[in-house]
Amino acid sequence: MCGIVGYIGKQKAASILLDGLQRLEYRGYDSAGLAVLSGEKFSHLRRTGRVKNLAQAAREHSLFGGTGIGHTRWATHGEVTEANTHPHVSSDEKFALVHNGVIENYLGIRKFLEGKGYEFFSSTDSEALVNLIAYHYAKEQNGTDRFFESVRKSLLHVEGTYGLGVLCLDEPGEIIGARKGSPLIVGLGDGESLLASDVAAFAHHTQNVVYLNDSEIVRLKAGGFSISTISQEDVEAVVQRVDWQVEESTLGDFSHYMEKEIFEQPTALENAMRGRLDEVNGTAKFGGLNLTASEFRQVDRILFCACGTAWHACLVAEYLIERFARIPVEVEYASEFRYRNAPLDKDTLVFVISQSGETIDTLAALREARRKGFRTLAITNVVGSTIARETDGGIYQYAGAEIGVASTKAFTSQILISAMVALYFGRLRDLSYQDGIVLIQALKNLPDQIRTILSEADHIQKIARKYADAEGFLFLGRQVMFPIALEGALKLKEISYIHAEGYPAAEMKHGPIALISETCPSLLFVNNDEMYHKTLSNLQEVRARKGRVIAVTTLDANFPKDLANDIITIPSAHEAVQPILASIPVQLLSYYIAKERNCDVDKPRNLAKSVTVE
Ligand code: AGP
Ligand code: GLU
Repeated sequence: MCGIVGYIGKQKAASILLDGLQRLEYRGYDSAGLAVLSGEKFSHLRRTGRVKNLAQAAREHSLFGGTGIGHTRWATHGEVTEANTHPHVSSDEKFALVHNGVIENYLGIRKFLEGKGYEFFSSTDSEALVNLIAYHYAKEQNGTDRFFESVRKSLLHVEGTYGLGVLCLDEPGEIIGARKGSPLIVGLGDGESLLASDVAAFAHHTQNVVYLNDSEIVRLKAGGFSISTISQEDVEAVVQRVDWQVEESTLGDFSHYMEKEIFEQPTALENAMRGRLDEVNGTAKFGGLNLTASEFRQVDRILFCACGTAWHACLVAEYLIERFARIPVEVEYASEFRYRNAPLDKDTLVFVISQSGETIDTLAALREARRKGFRTLAITNVVGSTIARETDGGIYQYAGAEIGVASTKAFTSQILISAMVALYFGRLRDLSYQDGIVLIQALKNLPDQIRTILSEADHIQKIARKYADAEGFLFLGRQVMFPIALEGALKLKEISYIHAEGYPAAEMKHGPIALISETCPSLLFVNNDEMYHKTLSNLQEVRARKGRVIAVTTLDANFPKDLANDIITIPSAHEAVQPILASIPVQLLSYYIAKERNCDVDKPRNLAKSVTVE
């Protein structure tokens, strides 16, 4: 969600903070600020809108000092105003704080502190915490650990989630950070230390990192750090090296990260398959599942949990696993599962899917399943993310950094991995060796088939121009194409702000048909499968109501040319990989429509890349 950056060292903190905030922009935010310790006071700057506004303001002010914190805010409490932008400074002006998350009991804390004479200047929950720290500091009076102890004691009173960084005027040689629910990572440089909610902020400075766990608090100095828990237990910190390729996060010749990431899909999928296809046994193999084949054979139900696009990938996984492995699968929104107290069969395997590995609802669903003693597995893209560290076993996507807020390559790689999981489970049960080999071959053909679709991008762009003024859009598909219809609708609405809905094609007549008009076109997936004629009937129903139709159809379907206003033909493939191929043209279509409408494709309004609040 929002981004936190902290720096302490011999360089000018302000420029490192601004650079870090720029690198975190992709996470989504609405305002940005920083505070630097310079002598007797904080140099404190905040701006609504883009980091470039803050950078502009920073050029007009002299921000010296080697210790500072910065923040990009994604508002939860209080509107997007300068007063609500972080860092927040305590009313005694001794502390500055950046916070990611939600302090759920902030009203009680605020009321208590107002009674003690503390003043509040924002509507945020976060300001309650900075003043609570000031309150404890004033009470503490003496002691060498006065700053640290006031933060620690304050956190004992906090309900909710946080990733935070705090500065104290009296202790210029220290930044204190802590986390519960929201990610926070320490970076260790040469005579300098950094703090961030995402390695992307500082990976070009240092690749030596320490991931903080929930309820841990870190004291960061220029030459080192120490970590303990909030309840004062010692923590043995593990310094890890991250393999983050800085060039991955640059645009190259593309106009947007979303475009770049759509075009990276052949490589992203090759990376997801590498070393995982076992042609000798006609199956898939994974390194980090941490379960034996016989333990897998005992699984008699699988529950998938995720949010957003990853939830759509789960729906495809449901279809593929039930089809090829004949294991019953259920799919739940992680945010619902975590509170639903659903009864699960004892041999249920719980699978979560998350690109970022930090989505708080998905993390909570994973924790709930583990707390109940279920085996958990995760499919995630970010190495070292909280979900990756907490799951019993898992599969990394290796799709490379996904910067565009709208997920593209991560989605198709999640489907690909689901197909390999279906193959693996299928081969432990009734799927024959021959069927396994056929699927493996189909997977191997996939990257080139995607390249073929990408080479038709100009055709899709021309179609996009014709539909860019649509007021609404329907995406319709049957069976495994239904989740792709949902994803197509999500993609379009996320980045173009056109209202779109995804439906099973036959469900359309139970309500959404009322929307069909000349300004509400429909995109239908028409594959050469057992649903072919039935899907064509649904298509005719749209046309009978003057709805414009885009057909995404497979080459072998020989789709009649006069049946749709526009046709996008994709290669025919095995049914397990067809949903991946069908995703590519709808990603491109959404991208080009959004571009045509001059939308901020990579940073769509109100959205965050990694949703770390409930
Ligand atoms: C994708 O386009 C969305 N921005 C969003 O739905 C996303 O998929 C969702 O927030 C889940 O994120 P995760 O995969 O990082 O858990
Ligand atoms: N809840 C805080 C606010 O609204 C922090 C939001 C964030 O995570 O950016 O200011």
